[in-house]
Amino acid sequence: MGVVGGVGGYDRRTMATITIDGKECGFEQGDTILQVANANGITIPQYCYHDGLTIVASCRICLAEVWAPNPRNDNKLEAIPKLLPTCQTTCGEGQVVYTDSPKAIANQKAVMEYLLINHPLDCPVCDQSGECSLQDYSYEYGRGVSRFEETKIKQPKKDVGPHVLLYSDRCIMCSRCVRFTREVTGTAELTITGRGNKEQIDVFPGVALDNELSANVIDLCPVGALLDKDFLFSQRVWFLKETPSIDGITSSGDNITVHHNQGLVYRIKPRTNMDVNKWWISDEIRFGWKFVHDEGRLTGAAHKKFGARAACDFVRAYDEIVENMKGKKIALVVSPMLSCEEAYALAKAAVALGGKGATLCVGPVPRDGTDKVFPGGYTVRAEKAPNARGVRRVLEAVAQAEGLGEVLDARGFEGGSFEGVLVTGNYPSDWVTAGFAKACEGAFTVVIDTLGNRLTEAADIVLPGAVWLEKAGVFENAQGKLQAFEQAVPSPTGARSEGQIALDLLAVIEGSGMEQRRVERRVMVVDEGPGQVPGATEVLLPGAAHRYNAAHIRREMAGEYTALSVFETEVSYPVVEAQHTAEMELVEL
Ligand code: SF4
Ligand code: FES
Repeated sequence: MGVVGGVGGYDRRTMATITIDGKECGFEQGDTILQVANANGITIPQYCYHDGLTIVASCRICLAEVWAPNPRNDNKLEAIPKLLPTCQTTCGEGQVVYTDSPKAIANQKAVMEYLLINHPLDCPVCDQSGECSLQDYSYEYGRGVSRFEETKIKQPKKDVGPHVLLYSDRCIMCSRCVRFTREVTGTAELTITGRGNKEQIDVFPGVALDNELSANVIDLCPVGALLDKDFLFSQRVWFLKETPSIDGITSSGDNITVHHNQGLVYRIKPRTNMDVNKWWISDEIRFGWKFVHDEGRLTGAAHKKFGARAACDFVRAYDEIVENMKGKKIALVVSPMLSCEEAYALAKAAVALGGKGATLCVGPVPRDGTDKVFPGGYTVRAEKAPNARGVRRVLEAVAQAEGLGEVLDARGFEGGSFEGVLVTGNYPSDWVTAGFAKACEGAFTVVIDTLGNRLTEAADIVLPGAVWLEKAGVFENAQGKLQAFEQAVPSPTGARSEGQIALDLLAVIEGSGMEQRRVERRVMVVDEGPGQVPGATEVLLPGAAHRYNAAHIRREMAGEYTALSVFETEVSYPVVEAQHTAEMELVEL
C-alpha cells in the first residue's frame, strides 16, 4: 500500500486526494478508503479487514456514504446510491467519504444489533474483555439496548488445537481465522460450516489447528471466540503492562510485546514490523518464555568449599575469580542467548583478567532442522538462539583490537586447553553436552547461568544470570538487523544480569569498591508504568558507571572500536505506542 500522510506528507499539486470525514488525505493508485483512513488516524469500524489478509468485505460494519465527481455532469459531486464497503472500495480522485452521516450511522447500528442477536454477552467471564472490538464498537456504534426477545442460538465450545479454544457463540463470522490458515500458513485447518444462524467456524474432521503459527488466530480474532489456552482466565487484560521486546528464543528477531503484571510475564504477542515478522510470531516464540519463571532458576552465588558446593556472596565469588584467573590462560564462552552489550562487557572483563592469554569463544548455537518458510512469507528459523551473529561481531571486534587470537566456536573451545574458563549459558533448557563439560574439566570453572545443569554442579563458581526479559540490550537477528529490546520484568532476587556481573568483575579487578554499587542497584525500580525506558532514552546517571546500562555500554563500545560503531548508527528501537485511554467517565465505587 502506498498511503501518504494527509498532513504535509504529500505534494498536493501531484498527489491524488480523497476527503474522509472532512480530512483531505493523499492516496496512491489501488489504496482502499479504509487503508487511507487507517493511515491517517481516521477511525472507521472494521472486523473482517486485516492488512495481512485478502479482503472479503463480509462484516459490513465499515460501510460509508461516498460522493464522487461525475464526469458526465461537469464533475459535480454526486452521492453513490448505496453505502460502500470502505475496506474494498479503492479511492478515486476527489471522492468525499462520510462515515458519520445518518445513513452510515444507521448501518453501523444495524450491523451491531445483528451481530449481538445471538452473542452470549458474557463479557464478565470473557478473556477478550477489555481488548474486544465487539465490546468497543458496541459502545461507540451500538444501540445500547437490545430488541431481541427470542431465544438465542447456542453454539458449542471446542478444543480446536493444542493452543486454541473456540467459543463459537462469540464468533461474528469475520473469517479472519479461516483466511489466515489458507493464506499465511497454507495449512487450511479451519473452515466455515452450516448456514445462516447455524453457521460456525470448525476444524475438518480429525484435523487439529496445529501448525507452527496456529496461535496467531487468537490475535486475529476481533472478539473472544478464539482463545489462548495458556492465558485462559489468568489475568484481566487491563491489569497487564506492555513492554516492547525482541524474540529471545530463536534467531528470527521477531518483534514482540511482553504483557506482564507485578513482575510476572503472562503472555507474549507479536508487534508489527514489516521488515521482520510482519504481523505474526511462531507458537514457539509465543509460548517459549516459560523458563523465565522456572522454579529451578538459580538465585544465589555459590562456590566450592572443601570439594562441595556452598552458597557465598557475590563479592566473595568475584574475589575468588580474580584470585584464580588473573594472568592465566583463560577462555570466555559467551552464549548466543546474551545481548551484544553483555558480550562486550564480558569480553572486557576477560581481557582484564587474562590479558593476551584470553581466548574469546561463541557458545553453542542450537539448531533444529532447517528454516521453514510459510506461503505468507513467515520464516520459522532453525537456529534457536537470538544473537549468535551479534555476539560473534562484538567478540571479533574486541579480539582484533586487543590482539587476541581467533574467536572460537563451541567446537573450537572443546578442542582447546585452558587454566580457567568463564562460561555463560542462559538457554531455555539443558544445553551442556558431554564434550563441553569435559573441556571444562581441569580448569578453574566459572559458570554464569539461569538454570542448573551438570556444569553448574561441577563448577568452582556459579553465578545466577538474568534472562532476556529481565534486562535491556541489542540482538542481531538472522537477517543481520540490530534491534534493541527493553527490560520487562525484574530478575529473581539474588540473580544479576551477565552485563552487571561483568562490570562488577571489572571493578574488582580495578580495585574500586563494591558496597556503593550494591546500594545503587537496590533503588532500581522495574515494572512500573508501561515498560522500562527504551534503550534510546535510557538515563545515563553521572557516577553510575558500574551500574549496568545497555545504552551506556552501546555508546562506549561504539566509541572505543570502529568496528562497533554500528551500535550507534544502525540499532533500531521499538516505537513506543501511545497508551489508549478510555473516553468513558470512570466512576469510583
Ligand atoms: S472465530 Fe474469530 S476470527 Fe474466526 S471468524 Fe469467528 S470472529 Fe472471526
Ligand atoms: S471491514 Fe469492511 S466489510 Fe468488514
